[in-house]
Amino acid sequence: MSAGKLALVVGGGNGIGAACCEVMHAHGWSIAVADLDEAAAQRTAEAVGGSAFHLDVRSIASIKALADQVESDAGPVDALVVSSAIFQGNVPIEETDEELFDRVMEVNLRGTYHVNRVFGMRMATRGAGAIVNLASVTGQGSTPLNIYGPGKAAIINLSKSFAGEWGGRGVRVNSVSPGVTLVPRIRERKASGDRYPADLDQRMALRRCVEPNEVAEAVEFLASSRASGITGTDLVVDCGWMTGALWGAYLGGLR
Ligand SMILES: NC(=O)c1ccc[n+]([C@@H]2O[C@H](COP(=O)([O-])OP(=O)(O)OC[C@H]3O[C@@H](n4cnc5c(N)ncnc54)[C@H](O)[C@@H]3O)[C@@H](O)[C@H]2O)c1
Repeated sequence: MSAGKLALVVGGGNGIGAACCEVMHAHGWSIAVADLDEAAAQRTAEAVGGSAFHLDVRSIASIKALADQVESDAGPVDALVVSSAIFQGNVPIEETDEELFDRVMEVNLRGTYHVNRVFGMRMATRGAGAIVNLASVTGQGSTPLNIYGPGKAAIINLSKSFAGEWGGRGVRVNSVSPGVTLVPRIRERKASGDRYPADLDQRMALRRCVEPNEVAEAVEFLASSRASGITGTDLVVDCGWMTGALWGAYLGGLR
């Protein structure tokens, strides 16, 4: 249990971020939720008795203002979770453009970098803190997500870089890489056959996709003192998607 400790979940209004708020609350954390979607942040905060804040990770002024506001309203942030992201369609490289590249990278990579920087510097000054960034299995290898994936690979690397920078000042930084996770948007797409193959579950070693709370449990573990010796690590929570993909090249795949 992490009684009395404050977790700020950026992008906590929906999906995996909202699951992180619920699971961390159940483990005893106090919760602050920050999101571009103010109504969603409010909904999540109400469900866990926490506080809601507006944030646009594309604005460094907005991130700095949030840091001041959360500290004065709720106290110093013990754990930061960064789950905010936007997604790209299945667009061949020839059909991508600068606008799509900048739009995805601005939220996913630049936003995550600056949220880590602003909150991590405060943690380093205080001499304690834990950061968990949501990366993705698309950052581990080759997928059709030719902008989103490279951005996620960079998030895994920035987590390792920041871990080295601040380890001597008591701040741990790790990432979690989910596989296909059944947040409402993806559950609907999977059911309608949009983008995902009909035998998707059979391609995973565990023969199913990930539930949001399974990602959240990994995030909570890395944020908690139970992971006191872990920094600069990426934890994959993919129900064995990557394992199944490698087996796919042999004897027809998983048996
Ligand atoms: N769901 C999956 O299958 C999956 C798989 C791998 C990785 N991930 C990663 O997990 C994280 C959560 O994904 P999700 O599926 O829950 O997504 P989601 O869309 O349900 O939630 C993302 C949240 O980020 C917020 N957000 C978007 N732009 C923002 C901005 N500019 N400023 C502040 N907040 C902003 C959204 O309002 C939303 O509440 C993301 O980093 C995503 O890349 C998800």
